[in-house]
Amino acid sequence: MSSILLLTSSPRAESLSTTIAADLAAKIQAQQPGSVVVRRDLAANPLPHIDDLFTAAIRKPVDARTAEENAAAKISDELVNELLAADTIVIGTGLINFNIYSSLKTWIDNVARAGLTFKYTESGPVGLATGKKVYVVLASGGVYSQGPAAGLNHAVPYLKTVFGFLGITDVETIYVEGLAFGPEAAEKAIGAAKARAEELALAA
Ligand SMILES: Cc1cc2nc3c(=O)[nH]c(=O)nc-3n(C[C@H](O)[C@H](O)[C@H](O)COP(=O)(O)O)c2cc1C
Repeated sequence: MSSILLLTSSPRAESLSTTIAADLAAKIQAQQPGSVVVRRDLAANPLPHIDDLFTAAIRKPVDARTAEENAAAKISDELVNELLAADTIVIGTGLINFNIYSSLKTWIDNVARAGLTFKYTESGPVGLATGKKVYVVLASGGVYSQGPAAGLNHAVPYLKTVFGFLGITDVETIYVEGLAFGPEAAEKAIGAAKARAEELALAA
């Protein structure tokens, strides 16, 4: 049974990244009979920021941890298992000050775990979360997929770097962009993103 992990990160009720990412996940599910969608709304249910206890815990073998350290690593362990069980990951985020929503960054900090999702080898780090595809739905006021502001888009290069580090190199981006350029431009951008999502879902 294939599993689709849907991660949404916008706190906004009218979020475009959430709407289009959720729609994409539903469409992929329809294409893959028997598949399940596991949803994490990272804005409504924020994850704990990594702290002193957590960083100590993840550097130790499980049986060398204190009870408190094990408790601190518990949610991260759950998130890692969810990621490793997923075949497809659909992410919704806005471009926020040129990067992703901080709720999504916290999810990344919880799942990038040495020995679980990547490992260090003599020839460098190796990703362990292989064989998965990631779809990123990125909503933004400006236009960053191309043109003069493209170099200011730190969200997509960052997500590609971090997923590549975890062993996932198949990353597809759906831009919902130019939303700040008036209602007509926004409507056009939303229509184009929905059409792209439809196209990608049919190919999933
Ligand atoms: C605090 C904040 C920072 C933002 N920073 C940027 C930015 O750097 N570049 C941009 O094009 N849009 C920026 N925006 C606009 C958002 O990307 C846009 O509203 C997008 O639709 C947010 O995604 P969402 O609809 O899924 O919440 C920002 C919006 C907010 C509220």
